[in-house]
Amino acid sequence: MILVVGATGQLGTAVIRRLMVKQLPVRAFVRQASHYQHLQDAGVELAFGDLCDPVSIERACQGVEVVIATANTTIPQGKYNFAAIEDQGYQHLIAACQRHGVKQFVFMSVAVTPFDEAVLTFRFKRRTEERLKKSGLSYTIFRGSLFMDDWFAFIGSYLPLRGAEAATIRRDFWFSKLFIKGVGNLIEKRGIALIPGPKSVRHAFIALDDVAEFIVASLGHPQAQKAIFSLGGPEILTWGEIVAHYENVLGRPVRAVYLPSGIFRFQRMLLRPFSEAASNLMGLNWIVGYDTPFEMRETAAIFGVTLTHAGEFLREKASLPGQTS
Ligand SMILES: NC(=O)c1ccc[n+]([C@@H]2O[C@H](COP(=O)([O-])OP(=O)(O)OC[C@H]3O[C@@H](n4cnc5c(N)ncnc54)[C@H](OP(=O)(O)O)[C@@H]3O)[C@@H](O)[C@H]2O)c1
Repeated sequence: MILVVGATGQLGTAVIRRLMVKQLPVRAFVRQASHYQHLQDAGVELAFGDLCDPVSIERACQGVEVVIATANTTIPQGKYNFAAIEDQGYQHLIAACQRHGVKQFVFMSVAVTPFDEAVLTFRFKRRTEERLKKSGLSYTIFRGSLFMDDWFAFIGSYLPLRGAEAATIRRDFWFSKLFIKGVGNLIEKRGIALIPGPKSVRHAFIALDDVAEFIVASLGHPQAQKAIFSLGGPEILTWGEIVAHYENVLGRPVRAVYLPSGIFRFQRMLLRPFSEAASNLMGLNWIVGYDTPFEMRETAAIFGVTLTHAGEFLREKASLPGQTS
């Protein structure tokens, strides 16, 4: 049995869809208040619980051989506490996996930066990685670069949302809703892209579907045991090159406006007393000012994943029906 923790999220859902195609036994760990209808409709076994509730984790782990954990609080729905979920919650999950003899724990993590300790998402991911390494469990840690599906939307576009299932940025959190409303689809509407960080930054942007492919391909893979992989797409691109792809797809000019990382660093501090998640989101915008120039040829070959190019991703999205302006 494969337990997916974070099942109602966009990555968890994409992983579950693939596990179902492969007819593998899957159990989705969902909260009572989660939007799990699409999983229930697809006939997925549900285990109700919460990472803040160790008893429910213990119950969900019964008979489980593999855990895939993508749960996170970046864009929270309802009440949340970062440390309780992403630190202690994962600690309880790892302990339950040890008790139940889980054979592989696949953990979706983030790239290493010099400021991991300063941004909650990064801080707690690193702690979970350390715990996994000491746990005696066989783990597969994927440190992802920026997902095209999220970050191409954050810079001012609705295009990446076309055809998206359980899109993270549509989650019900006041600050991200405000942010999306403010930035909206500036690219399609006014030909302006709002880029976090300096012009020189380069990322191996990756499509969410490719991330899901890697996760599924890692299950039982001999090279994925007690292993850590950086995950990125097939190209290492500047934001300027992403903007050029937008120009090609839309057939009109797009101007990149670079927002200095310092703005986000400052807003992160300003928001901290009011909202941990809003402050963390600004922290993420700051920290993506650091490169993720992952060379992916070897990892893609190990897992047999064909990576999606940014231009291809945008062209495919543009071919789907949806709002542009
Ligand atoms: N976006 C990027 O560029 C990027 C880059 C690198 C790595 N990553 C990592 O990749 C993963 C992406 O996940 P995603 O896009 O699927 O996230 P998402 O859409 O925001 O989904 C979050 C999931 O976590 C669950 N969750 C939150 N709190 C929980 C709790 N207390 N107990 C149980 N479940 C809880 C949510 O359940 P509810 O629906 O009940 O809230 C939901 O299923 C994350 O780990 C992220 O850090 C992302």
